[in-house]
Amino acid sequence: MDSSRTQTPREKLEAWLRYYDDLNLGAFYTDRRTMGNRQIHRAALNATPAELPRVPPAVLPAIAVAPPPLPKAVPPKLQTPAPVIALPVVNPSSLFEAIDRVENDSLERIREDLGECTRCRLHKQRNKIVFGQGNPHAELVFVGEGPGHDEDIQGLAFVGRAGKLLTQMIEAMGLTRDDVYICNVVKCRPPENRKPEEDEVATCSPYLFRQLDVIKPKAIVCLGGTAAQALLKTKDSISRFRGTWFDYRGTKLLATYHPAYLLRNPAAKADVWQDLKKVMAQLGLKKK
Ligand code: URA
Repeated sequence: MDSSRTQTPREKLEAWLRYYDDLNLGAFYTDRRTMGNRQIHRAALNATPAELPRVPPAVLPAIAVAPPPLPKAVPPKLQTPAPVIALPVVNPSSLFEAIDRVENDSLERIREDLGECTRCRLHKQRNKIVFGQGNPHAELVFVGEGPGHDEDIQGLAFVGRAGKLLTQMIEAMGLTRDDVYICNVVKCRPPENRKPEEDEVATCSPYLFRQLDVIKPKAIVCLGGTAAQALLKTKDSISRFRGTWFDYRGTKLLATYHPAYLLRNPAAKADVWQDLKKVMAQLGLKKK
């Protein structure tokens, strides 16, 4: 990231939280809703969609304040237990969410804010920014990783080989591409189709968060690990949580394999179909 430019409110908040962490005041902002870098709890992995697994609540941070020493004559069993004082909890994810949220936001405004973006190194080799396209009122949003060669040329998400497979997946659900919204975590093509770096994801994902906040779909399907990791704020491998419903800012989110992975591993299509059937059930879609 360009260090000479002014820090965004989010960056300022992150620096502030890091500062508190350095002072060992982490308990002030224990995250009770998102996974952070923690491992996803097994319970969440095993829960059914109806139970809408959320990330495991962290233990309420508390400090035990030692009482003043009692006179020696008091037998130990009569001593009162140390009072436990709960510190106020500030949830960092909700702070970030508040900062990511823009009043009266719209897809047009997000696109305008993105402009001819040069915020990260991905702009250097890109041809076109791939913002995302589809129904702005979609009940279902697919989130991929980042544009590939064809997307970079056309400025449209999922229009190459993987995109054709995604179209088939959408049609198998009884929908068309115009019914759904399709976008990516990063809006510029990573060179050689490499995975976007952590700082590139961090720079670009606030635009994705805003897109999702504006569209307010009923369900989000993450295509591949990068999208799921960016939205669920985890580093866990997708194989650990694929096909499980999670809560993303009040919206149901499920991760499945990326269509590009399916092109290399067609046997995994059966798993993806199971996942898509869960999405159909969630949205009340009937198999045709
Ligand atoms: N792969 C992605 O993740 N996104 C696209 O838009 C195309 C391929």
